[in-house]
Amino acid sequence: MITYKNNIFHIQGKGFSSLMRINKYGQLEQLHFGEEVEMEDVQALEYHTGLGWGSSILLDDNDLASCPDVIPYVWSENGRGDYRESPLEIGKSMEFKYKCHKIYKGVAPIKCALPQAKGECDTLEIHMSQNGLLLKLYFSVFDGVLTRRAVLTNIGKETVEIQKIMSFMMDIYGDYEATTFHGSWIAEMRDSKQVAQGGRIVNESLTGFSSNQHHPGFLVSEPEATEEYGRVYGINLIYSGNHYASIQKSYQGLTRIMQGISPNNFSKKLQLKESFETPEAVICFSDKGFGGMSEKMHAFVNRYIIPEYWQGRERPVLYNSWEGCMFDFDQRRLLGLAKTAKDLGCEMFVLDDGWFGKRNDDKAGLGDYNINKKKLPQGMNGFADKIHALGLQFGLWFEPESVNMDSDLYRAHPDWALTDEFTPVLGRHQLLLDLTKQEVRDYIVENVGKVLDSANINYVKWDMNRHSIALGTKAHDYILGLYDVQRRVFEPRPHILLENCASGGNRFDLGMLCMGPQIWCSDDTDPIERLTIQGNLSYLYPQSTYGTHVSAAPHAQTLRVTPLATRGNVSFFGCLGYELDLKHLLSLEKEEIKAQIAFYKKYRMVFQYGSFKRLKNGWQVKKDGTAIAGVFRGQVAAAPGYEVLRMKDLDKKKQYSFVNREQKLRVGQFGALIKHVVPVNLNPNGAILRTADRKITMGDGKQELKASGAALMSGIRLLPIFQGTGYDKNQRTLTDFGSEVFVAEEVL
Ligand code: GLA
Repeated sequence: MITYKNNIFHIQGKGFSSLMRINKYGQLEQLHFGEEVEMEDVQALEYHTGLGWGSSILLDDNDLASCPDVIPYVWSENGRGDYRESPLEIGKSMEFKYKCHKIYKGVAPIKCALPQAKGECDTLEIHMSQNGLLLKLYFSVFDGVLTRRAVLTNIGKETVEIQKIMSFMMDIYGDYEATTFHGSWIAEMRDSKQVAQGGRIVNESLTGFSSNQHHPGFLVSEPEATEEYGRVYGINLIYSGNHYASIQKSYQGLTRIMQGISPNNFSKKLQLKESFETPEAVICFSDKGFGGMSEKMHAFVNRYIIPEYWQGRERPVLYNSWEGCMFDFDQRRLLGLAKTAKDLGCEMFVLDDGWFGKRNDDKAGLGDYNINKKKLPQGMNGFADKIHALGLQFGLWFEPESVNMDSDLYRAHPDWALTDEFTPVLGRHQLLLDLTKQEVRDYIVENVGKVLDSANINYVKWDMNRHSIALGTKAHDYILGLYDVQRRVFEPRPHILLENCASGGNRFDLGMLCMGPQIWCSDDTDPIERLTIQGNLSYLYPQSTYGTHVSAAPHAQTLRVTPLATRGNVSFFGCLGYELDLKHLLSLEKEEIKAQIAFYKKYRMVFQYGSFKRLKNGWQVKKDGTAIAGVFRGQVAAAPGYEVLRMKDLDKKKQYSFVNREQKLRVGQFGALIKHVVPVNLNPNGAILRTADRKITMGDGKQELKASGAALMSGIRLLPIFQGTGYDKNQRTLTDFGSEVFVAEEVL
């Protein structure tokens, strides 16, 4: 709800309030952004400037309360006494004054190709103006989340050059810490926490994309905030290009937060009557800790960001050919894999890189769309039909934004590649295509569309495997071009499940999620690494938005050996897939995968759409009366003590059945110990035990009981863990990186 009275705006959503005031100088003050309050609370939330601040500037020499450097603003001026960072720079000072406002139902009108949140909302549009410039500030309330954006229009007589324009800024009271997420290829979403105090914390990407280096979403929280308590702001941008955010605490104790397109190498000339629209920023406040914030953010993304067709829709369990085959396949090999995938319970077969042009490694072929008939003699249509005949859906990989210099496309149109005047710099042996050019966009739309219409294709993995180069405003125009292309390809084909990807999570952002509901969050499928990647993504994104695949061990990137059970258990908490060579799996591994897939399918909606909680030792998802907890361990400790699982968010009074998912033990994991339990003295490296390891599994501790929600939340005492004193079915035998999954279901 948005109300206006006596120069005060009150924006109210589920669990938050924003109070803004037009002051006597026509500026917009941020009196409060946080817990739900009433409009009448203005008196309590008013700031008090006292009797002046020494060398500071006053807007009115006779008004000691008019010092811009200490006023909490919704949008600050520039060059007129507020020396904190300004959200707008045009090379001269500015003095925007309130002009008028409108309150209406529905989203802000936006003309450019930028994506935005969609659905029911209330919007406040405030117009601020100064000589020759009109600044429109938009505030939309979607349930528990506020979105903001700014649009600047040249209404004067001269061209104006924008050097920097943020989507939003706000000043809030208190001490805060900023959690940002950094990384690189196969190491996305590493969290870093900094205290806001003197100086500025900056989170900015310069690669041309939202990037794996500096994720656009970040958290601002009170130092004492926990998962359940304390004030937390989750902030994100619906944008896939270079982004910028800063958190700056002033000496007086106000924290200024802003976010928008990175001003680095940015400049935009506004001709007369021209406007520049900034991407929409998302601000999610909760006084119920990180957990309260993520719950609202998840609901927002599931309901207002991802394309309508995919909202709440089950995602298939897929098999992807990449890690198993890379470029080395032909139809026979693929069909063999597809048949096994089907037997295991997979529902979709995805053919990854290598099906077109001269693409036998990553040095050639990108840009071409002709199907490699040596690999797929019956063409895409023939191959897709064979996959469907096995009872599987079919998905296909594309990398349409890129071109190899060794490709027919590059030979025909070298000028379509995005370069500067120097020797081209390649990334993964490729250049990007210049999506700012209409003919390039048309080429992609036409050719991707042709392939999609030539066969029965249910899913597309849209990849992009390099960073861009600094191209000034072209960097932003590229992103607008990308949105245009994806819209033109997928809006007419809404039933195709689009999973975006960029070397894994090099473009994991809300902009891409507006285009397609899923993103491949990392090429790193090591489950222990995924605990960090998926765990940190969970602050800002629901499980339905990321693909989570089981791959081989030792892992391709870390060489870490992890139990197959753990690879499954971690991948359950997302959109499950398998990505390893199935041909050489032992039959006991196949049995285990079958059981994993059957379990996931039974609880798929809980895993993909259930409310997600971070537990002390794992994760929990819950939907209706079913809660599932994953408990993950690092290294095993000798003589392990008691272990307690505290579930969350159950009904205290209700009874639940509680059971762990059955997991099997391999004989080989006991090594030389096995000779103590069999009558003959067997060689631990001998043929008998090696064969037994491949054929025989042993049961592991099963804990099955009924308990009240109160008991499960207070902490269920888990079965004891193996400690070398003997094997017993009533204990749990966990090796390094072991894990378990527990299901609590309401008893009706
Ligand atoms: C990128 C993707 C991978 C795979 C390869 C294919 O690295 O992230 O998942 O599709 O490209 O070349």
